[in-house]
Amino acid sequence: MVVTARGRFITLEGGEGAGKSTHARALIRWLESRGVDAVLTREPGGTPHAEALRTLLLEGLVAPFGAEAEALVFAVARADHMNHVIRPALAAGRWVVCDRFMDSTRAYQGTAGVPLEVLHRLDRLAVGDDRPDLTLVFDLPAAEGLARAARRRSGETDRFEQDVAAVHEARRRAFLEIAQSEPERCVVLDATRPVDEVSRAAEDAVAARLGSALPGG
Ligand code: TYD
Repeated sequence: MVVTARGRFITLEGGEGAGKSTHARALIRWLESRGVDAVLTREPGGTPHAEALRTLLLEGLVAPFGAEAEALVFAVARADHMNHVIRPALAAGRWVVCDRFMDSTRAYQGTAGVPLEVLHRLDRLAVGDDRPDLTLVFDLPAAEGLARAARRRSGETDRFEQDVAAVHEARRRAFLEIAQSEPERCVVLDATRPVDEVSRAAEDAVAARLGSALPGG
């Protein structure tokens, strides 16, 4: 019997305008150049049903029910994404690069007042014992990220972008606290640097943390 080695799960986290989506695409190209079969996905979303929930969340249709309800809906979307995309890909030996994951719920819904204990219970339901093998936290001052997000925006701001600057700063601190409390999983990258440099730092972090799992590593 051929036993396929489990793939590796990498999540990209950070505030608005930190460049995660650009770096996620660059990371996929880099992994593929190293011979890795890699899947790019995102949250909220990643499956047809979870993408439908994404629309509800980002259009603010869940917001009137409160932050706890939003956390619940993010968890429902995440469970579907885990079951239908992330776990099957990892089990098939593919690597998964996910643009936002459970730390975003901690940083966004946690700072909106949802107790940590509730978030942990939702993690148990949606994610179980699985955890990212590596989380890259793209860090930059909230004001800088918001200015970047405003420059690249084509349409309306979404429900979470609309929050005041102090809220974005609190989310940034929350991401940094998570990274500090789980240094074996998280690497913080200075996202104020030029894009190419940040991409290289992301690749270096993957090579340093997960290099032995790379083909020929
Ligand atoms: P998106 O356009 O993907 O944001 P970005 O381009 O900044 O990554 O929209 C996702 C939004 O949803 C973003 O504002 C963060 C928010 N969010 C949460 O509040 N909780 C979560 O658990 C997740 C995954 C995202």
